[in-house]
Order: sequence, then C-alpha cells, then structure tokens
Amino acid sequence: DKGNHRHFMEKEIYEQPEVISHALGHYVDFGSTKVRDLPGSIDFAAIDRLAISACGTAYLAGLVSKYWFERLARLPVEIDVASEFRYREMPLSKNGAALFISQSGETADTLASLRYCKQEGLKIGAVVNVKESTIARESDAVFPILAGPEIGVASTKAFTCQLTALAALAIGAARQRGTMSEADEIAAVKHLIEMPRIMSAVLNSIQPQVETLARELSKCKDVLYLGRGTSYPLAMEGALKLKEISYIHAEGYAAGELKHGPIALIDEEMPVIVIAPHDRFFEKTVSNMQEVAARGGRIVFITDAKGAAASTLETMATIVLPEVDEIISPMIYSLPVQLIAYHTAVIMGTDVDQPRNLAKSVTVE
Ligand code: M6R
Repeated sequence: DKGNHRHFMEKEIYEQPEVISHALGHYVDFGSTKVRDLPGSIDFAAIDRLAISACGTAYLAGLVSKYWFERLARLPVEIDVASEFRYREMPLSKNGAALFISQSGETADTLASLRYCKQEGLKIGAVVNVKESTIARESDAVFPILAGPEIGVASTKAFTCQLTALAALAIGAARQRGTMSEADEIAAVKHLIEMPRIMSAVLNSIQPQVETLARELSKCKDVLYLGRGTSYPLAMEGALKLKEISYIHAEGYAAGELKHGPIALIDEEMPVIVIAPHDRFFEKTVSNMQEVAARGGRIVFITDAKGAAASTLETMATIVLPEVDEIISPMIYSLPVQLIAYHTAVIMGTDVDQPRNLAKSVTVE
C-alpha cells in the first residue's frame, strides 16, 4: 500500500524518520544515550581487521562505515564489491571478522563472499533487512536494520537504516577498543537520537526546490556528483540512484579526483552536484567547486547555512540543510540525494518503482 504517495519509492523516502527511530531503538539506549551491548555480537576488541563485502547501495553504506570504523574505532577495514571480493582470494587475517551488508539477504555475490570468509574461519556478521534470509541464517551475528519491507527497486530507507546500524556498531567498536571516551560516545549517540527529527524537518522543507531543480536535470544527458570524506560514497550513491531510475548517465567521484580526469568533461551541459556540509573537508571541496565554476560548469551545491555563507560562487541551485554533526551527515544528506533522483525520474516519466532491466534482489551472478 502506497498510502498517499505516488510510488513506493516516495513512500519509503518519507518513512525514513520513523524507521530510523525503530532501528535506533534496537542499537542505542535512550536513557543512558550509549550504544547497547548486543548479545552474540562481534568482539571488536579481539580483531585486528574487518572485511566488508556488499553490492550496489549496500556496498556504499559499507564504504561510509569504513570511515567510521577506521576513525572512531581505529579498526582497519578492507571493503570491496562482492562480485570482486568473492574471486580475489585475498589473504584474510586469522584474527579478523567479516561483515556482509544486504537489504534482501539473498544477493548471490554477497552470499558467495560470506561463504568464502566462513571457510577461512572468520567470524561472520550480517547487516540485513530480511531477518529470515539466507545471509542472516549463515551468519554468526545478525544486525537487523529494521527498515520494514522495501518495495521500490531503488534502495532508500534500507540505505539510511544500514548507515544507522553501522554508525552504532562503529561507536560500539570504538568503546570496546578503548578509542572513544565515554563523553564522546554520549555526544555521538545524542546526535543519532536527534536524527529522525532533523530528517522530518528536511523532508518537509526541500521538496519544492528539489522539484524545480529536477526539471532542469531531466534535460541533461550526464550529471557528475562530487564529495569528500563520507560525502564521497554519498556522491556515488547519488549517481547510482539517478542512473537506475531516471536513466540519465551519472558518475560519483571523490572531489579530489576531479583534476585527475573528469575535469575534462566540465561544460555548461553537465551539472555538477557537490555534496559538502561545512565539515573539516569543506575548504578542500569548495576549491574543487571553484575549478568547476572556472570552466563554466553549472553547480548544484548541497550544504548547510555555514557552507552556503562561505561560498560566493554562482550556482544552479543551493540546497541548504541544517548544520549537523559529522556522524549523521551521511543520513541527512541522503535525503536530497534520493529526492533529486526521484523527482527527476518522475518528470522523465520512467517506471520509478520498477526500472527497466533491474531486479529488487539479484540472486544470480
Ligand atoms: O539486497 P541487497 O542489499 O544485497 O541488494 C544490493 C543491490 O542490488 C542494491 O542495493 C541495488 O544496488 C539497488 N537497486 C540500488 O538502489
């Protein structure tokens, strides 16, 4: 049932504040504002390496979490798309653990990667939406994302719920490994708890602006997304979402890679969507944005009030989000990224929930 929404995708985008609250209830204790100790979880203090494998959007959630596990928990993460991971025969640390992220829990390549790691004797964790799935059943520790059924082929709420679960796991890992103080843990968890309210505010405010922008984007053949830090996987997620439902060609790049190739593509025809909250990477990303502007590129700037005030560059659109802590910016910035793809596809008239050539769950190689 789509409720008042035109598509399941739209419904699932607007459901995010609610399902994230559910997910948070599982992972954090609202009273002490700390992450919960999950029985049967991975002992992050006992491992020296974490391998992560997944496909598509789930892979991009994993890539965001690499930044968290490494920075907060000082835990080295090896991450790869499952179709490569399964055949690489990579040497795995005997003291390591492996994490598999999958909405459906049935993705063939992810399952094959899991079986490879299991055979190598690693402890296996699964971040899944479908708890009865094969990937969940074959894992030692199951981390549910509690997003509820996701019908739209384009993953939206599963992505932000994966991020929520992974953020909590990374904070928990940091506590176990002694790399995060109690005060820092409490501060981070408070930010997670604020997330649903901030998401509702964003969802209630940005839609008209995104629709106007989508009208422009629907006329384009190519779109480039740029980001740095955790905004880099988000740039790739934006490009993936746009191409899968609107069929417009899009690429997501690390902002710093711009001058190593894609800058040659910049002209008035190809919008460049820059994802840049006013964080410790902001200045660097803005200098990349200047390079785009200097070559006549049209910029869509997704930032916060501080970021908007700090740049004088002319843009096609500047989407201003609330100023948020670094730990929740990937979830908050997912919203404009999802809505841009959604509204562009609606204007193009494509089958948003059931895009051509795609299946919700890819159970063959
Ligand atoms: O069920 P899974 O999370 O394992 O699926 C992985 C990908 O097939 C999936 O995320 C795909 O990339 C989405 N259609 C993206 O929106």
